Amino acid sequence: MTATASETNIYARLEDVGVRYGPKVVMQHLSLDIVEGAITCIIGLSGAGKSTILRLINGLRRPDEGRVLIGDRDISGMAERDLIAIRETIGFSFQFAALFDSLSIFDNVALPLRERTKMPEEKIRGLVEETLESVGLVNVIDRFPAELSGGMVKRAGFARAVISNPHCVLYDEPTTGLDPIITHVLTDLIIRLRQRLNGTAVVVSHDLESIFQMADYVAMLFEGAIIAYGTCEEIKASPNPIVQQFLQGSEVGPIPI
Ligand SMILES: Nc1ncnc2c1ncn2[C@@H]1O[C@H](COP(=O)(O)OP(=O)(O)O)[C@@H](O)[C@H]1O
Ligand SMILES: [Mg+2]
Repeated sequence: MTATASETNIYARLEDVGVRYGPKVVMQHLSLDIVEGAITCIIGLSGAGKSTILRLINGLRRPDEGRVLIGDRDISGMAERDLIAIRETIGFSFQFAALFDSLSIFDNVALPLRERTKMPEEKIRGLVEETLESVGLVNVIDRFPAELSGGMVKRAGFARAVISNPHCVLYDEPTTGLDPIITHVLTDLIIRLRQRLNGTAVVVSHDLESIFQMADYVAMLFEGAIIAYGTCEEIKASPNPIVQQFLQGSEVGPIPI
């Protein structure tokens, strides 16, 4: 199916995209619209290509076929220099938080500002403190990642992803492996950060409860294509047996186990 939203405001568009790793076809004729100002969640089995979609959106991976548009700009063949400017408008919260263990929380969160701006140190410090506070972290600025809990490290990762006020934030499995309470807190935080940035978010997640709490749109990826797209209600009511099996977490159905 083609997941093309009827809304006029599209933040990003994957158009007939194909991705291969060597002989392995990961995506084929995949089309997906990411609606501006909304939270789009991408679901699918492990290895389906969810993280690859995030990398396509920020240009870390170029499609082998088709196009990727950010607004009306085709980034698929864009020079790396121009792509860097686009990437600066997109925050990325990596699956394994990806904080540098040898850097303090302050230095980790300050990284995008130090790399991209000439902001004076005292201003950076103020912004880092403010951003950490906005994700519910206080008095951690001089600590190191190993001294924080898993949920706190994730929040610091969120702070780093949003500190330069990106238009869009990509979250790769933000709650995987965390307890239900922290999951709820992080889900809530994704919603609040999207509102604060007045931007767009794309979240890859397996956590259905969390998805149905935050998603404006859900896209399900299966065997290299989007097989279902819609609001939470539309996805829940999908007649597609693959979607239903996935939502029910059942081992019985058309999905090969
Ligand atoms: N750098 C790579 N080299 C070879 N295969 C890769 C590479 N990155 C991803 N893949 C393959 O592409 C498929 C999709 O990967 P990914 O987007 O990470 O899936 P997901 O995030 O849904 O688990 C997987 O089967 C994976 O093995
Ligand atoms: Mg992944």
